[in-house]
Amino acid sequence: MATLSVNIDHVATVREARKAQNPDPVAAAVLCELAGAHGITCHLREDRRHIQDRDLLLLKKTIHSRLNLEMAPTDAMVRIALEHSPTIVTLVPEKRMELTTEGGLNAAGMENELKGVIQTLQNHNILVSLFVDPDLKQLKAAAKIKADYIELHTGHYANVTGAEKAAALDQIKNMALAANKFGLGVNAGHGLDYVNTPYIAAIDFIEELNIGHSIIARAVLVGLDQAVRDMLALMKRQD
Ligand code: PXP
Repeated sequence: MATLSVNIDHVATVREARKAQNPDPVAAAVLCELAGAHGITCHLREDRRHIQDRDLLLLKKTIHSRLNLEMAPTDAMVRIALEHSPTIVTLVPEKRMELTTEGGLNAAGMENELKGVIQTLQNHNILVSLFVDPDLKQLKAAAKIKADYIELHTGHYANVTGAEKAAALDQIKNMALAANKFGLGVNAGHGLDYVNTPYIAAIDFIEELNIGHSIIARAVLVGLDQAVRDMLALMKRQD
């Protein structure tokens, strides 16, 4: 079964809506762990719209599971990652005006730039994952520049319907298999919810799912503990 890393950015989004102290994403992370989550994911964005530097510092000191730091591949972010030593860094593209991470990283078009970032992080015992579209060209580039993992972008799969959805699922399955053959670990995420997640969780070679919005949205109604447990139960389901 794939493991679950809960993305707690949206807890910070609610806090930042009022520039207040609550809700605290660090407290949320502890509740996620107690409910059985295997890891915590946060995205420290350049504009600090949700997660703050203080959150990262306290998350690292507080959580007992794996910390996955999503960040843009910039020198400033690499310095921050080295300071806090998360278990894994997931490199993502970042645009200021986007509502959420829109597309995968163009690893194939940024090999030289990414290579140095990957090496620096790995030299400090931080695993490196690249958030990429399920596209063979991107996987080949990720393997060439020696990323440890790729995170397959499931946003397209989540957004389409009917025959397109079946095709998108097949593409993710094929790319998970290909990534494994290239020696890459495979994670997946974006747009996963309480309906579509079981299909992704059942795919061979996918190790971990990064899920944020659907869990935090449900948590507002039923509580975070229940929302995480519901997702873990769905991931165990074998359809
Ligand atoms: N993976 C990556 C790389 C992301 O940027 C995000 C969104 O922050 C997620 C997973 C989680 O996506 P969602 O909030 O749609 O579950």
